[in-house]
Amino acid sequence: MTATDSHDSIRAVLWQGDHLRLLDQRRLPFEETAIDCRSADEVAQAITDLVVRGAPAIGIAAAWGVVLAARRDPATLPAALERLRAARPTAVNLMWALDRMKRAIAAGADADALAAEAQAIQDEDLAANRHMGELGAAQFGDAPVGVLTHCNTGSLATAGYGTALGVIRAGYAQGRIARVYAGETRPWLQGARLTMWELTRDAIPATLIADSAAAHLMKSGAIDWVVVGADRIAANGDTANKIGTYQLAIAARHHGVRFMVVAPSSTVDLTTPSGEAIEIELRTATELLGYGGQRTVVDGAQAWNPVFDVTPAELIDVIVTERGVVEQPARRGMAGLYAADAA
Ligand code: MRU
Repeated sequence: MTATDSHDSIRAVLWQGDHLRLLDQRRLPFEETAIDCRSADEVAQAITDLVVRGAPAIGIAAAWGVVLAARRDPATLPAALERLRAARPTAVNLMWALDRMKRAIAAGADADALAAEAQAIQDEDLAANRHMGELGAAQFGDAPVGVLTHCNTGSLATAGYGTALGVIRAGYAQGRIARVYAGETRPWLQGARLTMWELTRDAIPATLIADSAAAHLMKSGAIDWVVVGADRIAANGDTANKIGTYQLAIAARHHGVRFMVVAPSSTVDLTTPSGEAIEIELRTATELLGYGGQRTVVDGAQAWNPVFDVTPAELIDVIVTERGVVEQPARRGMAGLYAADAA
């Protein structure tokens, strides 16, 4: 077993031959339970409800949702594609995966061929993450660094290994990371509940911080890099990611801390010219007004709950994809990654 394998034991999305099994991320870290989806509708609902979350994992689950619709009745495919597409608005991996399945349908794929396509999407994501892990870890240099991450970008959010967390896994395995700090990621606590679970399972030294402690931590000198994932990267390098990422980028620039975004090319959307064009998901105020079913805010209070924000490209030092690394994306944009395809 390689160091990479030993740091990659979780699978959030599992095809079972005739249904899709999703690790229920609402219940982690204390309950490891799964839910089984037998229709595209059930998959779409699971995506909306955050049973499965994280941009690449959402796309993979949706692809399997298309397979479920094809197995049940190919006539339901157009409605299933529409329902799945509407499940969440910001992560473009969802639309990317559904467009890929749609092309396969247009080429005459039956349910078995669609299953092969969904499996390919899943396998390619895992391979991309492993490759990005190496590319991203090489950015750190030889002296062990302190890293801050946000939200959850690990095996739970992908086909496995993770994007930003994959870079952290690779960097730690190579001795390039001394300590990882994880922001708790209010209000859904992806950092506290999910990232700390993954890092602890892998015995990677990790310290949880309140999101509001990030600038204070950077000022202390403990952090060299902020490493985050993405839900959509626009053509100019502007990057949508979990709410709170933008303020981390501002604080990082102020303190001379470098800022890395790690995402597969399925997250890069050249048809979105800039962050202005990215729809930011607004979720129910209930997520902010209480926790674990327990109301924590006075009755009658209002709350605003955007769950993503956009970090402008000029605050990003490097974007790592499996196609290569874009340094200072504000200068070059993302199109260069695809230059070989156009040639
Ligand atoms: O609302 P979520 O949990 O789906 O948001 C997830 C994020 O913002 C992640 O940082 C992003 O999807 C990258 S996951 C590899």
